[in-house]
Amino acid sequence: MSVRQCVVSASSLLCCMLLFAGSIYGGAYQHSLQIDQVSFDWSVTGNTLAVRVAAPTTGWVGVGFNPSDMMKDANIIIGYVKDGKAEISDEFGARVTQHLPDDQSGGAFNVNLVGGSETGNSTTLEFTLPLNSGDARDRAIDPKAETRVMLAYGPPDRDSLKGKHSYARIVTINLDSGVMK
Ligand code: HEM
Repeated sequence: MSVRQCVVSASSLLCCMLLFAGSIYGGAYQHSLQIDQVSFDWSVTGNTLAVRVAAPTTGWVGVGFNPSDMMKDANIIIGYVKDGKAEISDEFGARVTQHLPDDQSGGAFNVNLVGGSETGNSTTLEFTLPLNSGDARDRAIDPKAETRVMLAYGPPDRDSLKGKHSYARIVTINLDSGVMK
């Protein structure tokens, strides 16, 4: 086999593996939960939490951590996919019914966008974030403790971060064990 054939074969194999796994991150998520119509997959590696979230909307999809009440004090990541390109924002629950971008409320953007896609009526986002960013607008996430995870998505009619959710739910998960209460 020539070097060129070898490179082509290796690339094809890698593409097939990624497609099969269905993930830009590599499919290597340690935990998966189906919560209503939202799939929430995640891995904890050192100080990094890697997340894949998929919801039945072509609008925005959001994940949040540890609100004190509804959306207040939560570390919220919200995003959408437009023309094949994902956009995400790292936000903070400024009030019970309001969230603001971290960098507009005394913090900084700490989330790393891995990728996103829109297929049919479904939007998938993948991102990583530090468990403890040290940011004024992020509460540390302890994977060994019970974490309140918020899952929400907006209506399908617009690619924007505005507009209230058509679905929002808070679940309690031990992120290390994957067990949901
Ligand atoms: C994008 C703009 C958003 C708006 C305008 C909005 C608005 C609101 C409002 C008005 C409430 C009060 C309860 C209600 O009226 O249903 C609420 C509650 C809530 N929101 Fe949002 N929200 C937004 C984004 C998000 C995101 C991104 C998340 C999570 C990732 C989220 C999670 C929640 C949760 C968990 C509740 C509490 C629901 C409950 O207690 O039943 N929201 N939101």
